Order: sequence, then structure tokens, then C-alpha cells
Amino acid sequence: MTSALSHLECSKCAARYDADAIAHLCACGAPLLVRYDLERAARTLTREALASREPTMWRYEELLPLRELTKRVSLHEQMTPLVRMRRVGRELGIEALFVKDESTLPTGTFKARGAAVGVSRAKELGVRAFAMPTNGNAGAAWAAYAARAGIEAHVVMPVSALEINRVECTMAGAQLTLVNGLIGDAGQIVAREVAEHGFYDASTLKEPYRIEGKKTMGLELAEQFDWNVPDVIIYPAGGGVGLIGMHKALHELQALGLIADRMPRFVAVQAEGCAPIVEAWKARRSESTPWNNAQTVAFGINVPKALGDFLVLAALYETGGAALAVSDRELLEVQSVVGAREGLFICPEGAATVAAAKRLREQCWIAAGERVVVINTGTGLKYSGVVRS
Ligand SMILES: Cc1ncc(COP(=O)(O)O)c(C=O)c1O
Repeated sequence: MTSALSHLECSKCAARYDADAIAHLCACGAPLLVRYDLERAARTLTREALASREPTMWRYEELLPLRELTKRVSLHEQMTPLVRMRRVGRELGIEALFVKDESTLPTGTFKARGAAVGVSRAKELGVRAFAMPTNGNAGAAWAAYAARAGIEAHVVMPVSALEINRVECTMAGAQLTLVNGLIGDAGQIVAREVAEHGFYDASTLKEPYRIEGKKTMGLELAEQFDWNVPDVIIYPAGGGVGLIGMHKALHELQALGLIADRMPRFVAVQAEGCAPIVEAWKARRSESTPWNNAQTVAFGINVPKALGDFLVLAALYETGGAALAVSDRELLEVQSVVGAREGLFICPEGAATVAAAKRLREQCWIAAGERVVVINTGTGLKYSGVVRS
């Protein structure tokens, strides 16, 4: 078994690029997606083969872009647990409510998945230094994996980001720049650094491999549901990469014949203080317009305009999904309910997904008896200051 990596393909114009050369956006400006030889992958990626593989995200080797898996940059990315929330589920009227709990990953968030694959592949392609903007958690994860890889990391984040994220970056030896603004302002600084110093641009969706790491959430979910995918998957969308990744993963599994053609309905949750994708979805538009004065305690989803918004929206339309915004008050309330009923200290972004499940059940958009998965993208421990205040 080896990677079935084939080529890179533009998500808009389908132009084809060599996967073994450094590539960022397509000439048309859209993100590139990784494509695999799925016929080849199907020969070795079988249920039986998986039974004897290590319980980490690397078990899906054929659908990951590393040419040499043994040289991967890893901090031990165990498969994350799928936890049934019986008590919260009963209160919400969703008996089969599950949380995919990403808090157990290195650096405490699902960002480790994208960083593990993104940094591994950057190293494989000979990258020595990268720059990236972040709302905090991604920067912390990429800094940690860069340290492990011996690659220089230049991270730019809003001054309002979690303090722990700054500490994580400096602890990992990254060069940290704070910007008095939002993630888009951080992105402009990164663009300058990339142009001036020739750093590898590791901005969300400007390199094609982070999404491949995040997609392993979808691969794990399918396997954890014994290849009978759930009815609904609810995701806290900032850049939306995790949702795009899970959607891509399930299509790949369909092509491999590992799951049936039925897709879960994908739901993108945003905060009322920053909901560009929700507004676009309500208007049935294919792209979002930039959000003014974005603000929410769920920092990870404070993204006024996502480069991959059209891919998120396409996944919602295709699967009969939905997008909705919840208030900070609502998500903080739900966060403490989940803590008190289930013993799980989930992050505000994760809490937003539970708040969304509650609303969608009240509106009967989720039917009784449906199997619903919410994604807790990280540990609440990082946010103790937010919760206190
Ligand atoms: C905890 C947490 N949840 C969700 C997100 C949003 O991730 P995505 O870019 O995949 O939408 C982030 C991004 O910073 C995050 O840190």
C-alpha cells in the first residue's frame, strides 16, 4: 500500500497540475484539490486491510498525499473518539446524538490533522520555511509540526486571538507576528512576507494538503459508523476546510465502493457576529460577501470571507444541508450544558454545533431518530479565559 496520489486539480476550472511540484492557487485564482487514482486505491484500501492497520489518521494511506509515509512528521494523531451524548441527546430530542471529539489530538484541536499532513508534504517537497495567517489554533498546530520537522514557521495572528495560541507558537520556536485586525489583515502581511522572502505560503487553501489532513475526520467517521454514514454532520465553519474535506472524503469512499451513494446532510454553523456563509446560503448564492465588523467568542470561526466559501456552499446544496448562525450567548450556554451533562469541556466552536443541533431539531429539520454528528473541533481548556468572562 502506498499513496494513490495522482495530480492536483483546480476546484473551479479543472486545470491539472503536477502534484510533485510546489503549487498554490490555480492560475484562475481558485484553490487546487488533490486527486488520487481511486481505482488503484480501491485495490488495497479495503475494510479487511483496515482491520489490521494502526488506529491513527495515517491508516488511510492510499488517500493521503505522502509519497513516503515513513518520513511523515507526526506527533501521534490517534483516531478521535465518537462519543454518544445520551443525556444531552435526550434533552434535545435527538436520541442518536454523537460528538466527534477532536480535543484529544496533539495541540488540542483538529488543526493537528491539517498541520500533520500539510507540514509532512511541505517537507517532502523540500520546503525550508513557511508563512501563514491564523485565528490561533492552526498557527499553534503548524508551529508544533514545523518544530518537529525542522522547518521555519512564520505565523501571523490577530492580537485578539487566544493568549494560549501565542504561547504555543513561541514555545514551538515559531516567528510570531501579532496584527491589530482580523485574519484577512494577517493574510495581507503573509502575502508580503511570501513575496519578499520566498516563504512557502501555507495560508488556508493556498496550499492543497491541509484539506487532505482534515478530510480524515470524514474517513474516520465513515469507519466508526461501520460504513453506514450518519444522517447529519454539523460543522463550525470558518474557512470551512473541515467541511470541504469531509465531503471530499465521503465522495472518495463512494468511488472506492466502501460506502453507499447516500450522503449525510452537511450543516455549516457560524456565529451571529460573523455569518457570511449563512447569508449566502439563505440567498442561494454560490459565494459569500465579506462580513463587516466580524466578532465572536468562537475565534476559530471568525472569518469574514473564506477563499473556499463556494466549495462549502456547493457541499451544502448538493447534500440538502443547511447553514445557520447561533449567538455567543447561546453557544456559551450550551457549552456549560454539555460540560455538566456529559463531562466534556468542548470549545466554543464545538458548542456552536450543539446549539445548531438544538435549533434544527426544534424546527424539525432534524427528524426524530436521525443519527446526528456534531464536531467538537477542540478542547475547551484553551478557552478558560473566554468562559470565565
Ligand atoms: C477550534 C476551531 N474550530 C473550527 C475552526 C474552523 O475551521 P475551518 O477553517 O475548517 O472552518 C477553527 C479554525 O481556526 C478552530 O480553531
